[in-house]
Amino acid sequence: MSAPRAVGFGIENMPRMVRGEGSYLYDDTGRRYLDGSGGPAAFSIGHGNREVNAAISAQLGRIACAYRYLSTSDALEELTACILGACGPEFGHIVFTSSGSESVESAMKLALQYWYARGMRGKTRFIARERSYHGNTLGALSVSGFAERRRPFEGSLLDVSFVSAASEYRPPAGAGPADLAAFLADELDSKIRAIGPERIAAFIFEPVVGAAGGVVPAPPGYAEAVRAVCDRHEVLMLADEVMCGAGRCGTWRALEHDGVAPDIMMVAKGLAGGYIPLAATIFRADLGRVMLDAHGAFMTGHTYSGHTAACAAGLAVQRLMQRDGLIARVRTRGGPLKAALAQSLARFDEVGDVRGRGFLIGVEFVRDRASKEPFPAARALSYDVGRHAFEGGLICYPCAGNAGNSTGDTVIIAPPFNASDAELEELVAKFTAAVEGTLRPTSA
Ligand SMILES: Cc1ncc(COP(=O)(O)O)c(C=O)c1O
Repeated sequence: MSAPRAVGFGIENMPRMVRGEGSYLYDDTGRRYLDGSGGPAAFSIGHGNREVNAAISAQLGRIACAYRYLSTSDALEELTACILGACGPEFGHIVFTSSGSESVESAMKLALQYWYARGMRGKTRFIARERSYHGNTLGALSVSGFAERRRPFEGSLLDVSFVSAASEYRPPAGAGPADLAAFLADELDSKIRAIGPERIAAFIFEPVVGAAGGVVPAPPGYAEAVRAVCDRHEVLMLADEVMCGAGRCGTWRALEHDGVAPDIMMVAKGLAGGYIPLAATIFRADLGRVMLDAHGAFMTGHTYSGHTAACAAGLAVQRLMQRDGLIARVRTRGGPLKAALAQSLARFDEVGDVRGRGFLIGVEFVRDRASKEPFPAARALSYDVGRHAFEGGLICYPCAGNAGNSTGDTVIIAPPFNASDAELEELVAKFTAAVEGTLRPTSA
């Protein structure tokens, strides 16, 4: 699940998309939409790319799927080498899946299998963060601190412990801006000690929070500090890069920015850019060795793990990104895009924060800029902005609930990495018009 409700027109009245080309989508009435959020921050190279489509169709012409657990394929092996090369020498294994939720589920199971293989069988609990989202399956939802998405399933979820969100804009009570990273690391350390390190399998977090926070990069020093806490207590660090990884934040791994390597990481959305569902759980070589020695296999996977045509799509997307220097483009254009949005929205007192990294930018709306008081949940302001944007020919990604009690209005901007400068300018103009239409309807 990405958006929990229909954004623009209501679920029964959505536009019927018939074509995508580059940064634009077209509906059956011929209306054109600029994809300013790559759907749910997924479509990293835009739509209808001929090279990627040709690579997929060539693969389909040879074989659609060679079952992963009985065979291998060129696409699978080349994509594995490509991803491991991009991730760095700390990583040695990949389990492919078809969605972010499955990649998180696999990460959790691999963490459990690892401790079991090491004979540390009490290490079965997970610690996660409030205001986080890790997916829709029961395990992934269990580690998600997202009340609105959990509510109907409470009672059937795993018993998970939570620590505070790592937000500079909405820090936990008692934490000052200068000591936020240390405060949060201490909190994690205390939580592990209180439960007992011998009972904790892993700590899972999003290096840059997506939908649950409306784009929240952790404060400087945070990743390094929690890495040290995890190491001290023999707790695995699981980085959920489903949304923020695969180049979205201007580095292939989002945590590269912090100079930190997790034990296990998950990528999904941008990996094959939405051309075919594809996700990956990537983990350290030494973890893999322990599990292979004990069990001979990684005890997670699905019928379509490593699906050959999906791997061909992922490979084509990744090669195109490398050839065209798209991650470097995200790195250099991300700052100016964020600055242009902030400048264009500065006249609205209701815009409390414009934040993010690379092409993952969040805009937070508040009733009062000084107190950061959110709008009432019933106002559904972020969805209103999303609807106005849609009507003006722009797709963005509204989110709600980051400020507690279902309040908090944020909108995610996450254009394709190869959106042109003119398209980025159009995005800023159309988004500003949507905000104007929402907040100042009489002058619209
Ligand atoms: C950080 C994060 N993790 C996991 C997921 C779940 O991915 P999927 O919707 O592909 O199952 C999402 C989806 O938005 C996400 O943003």
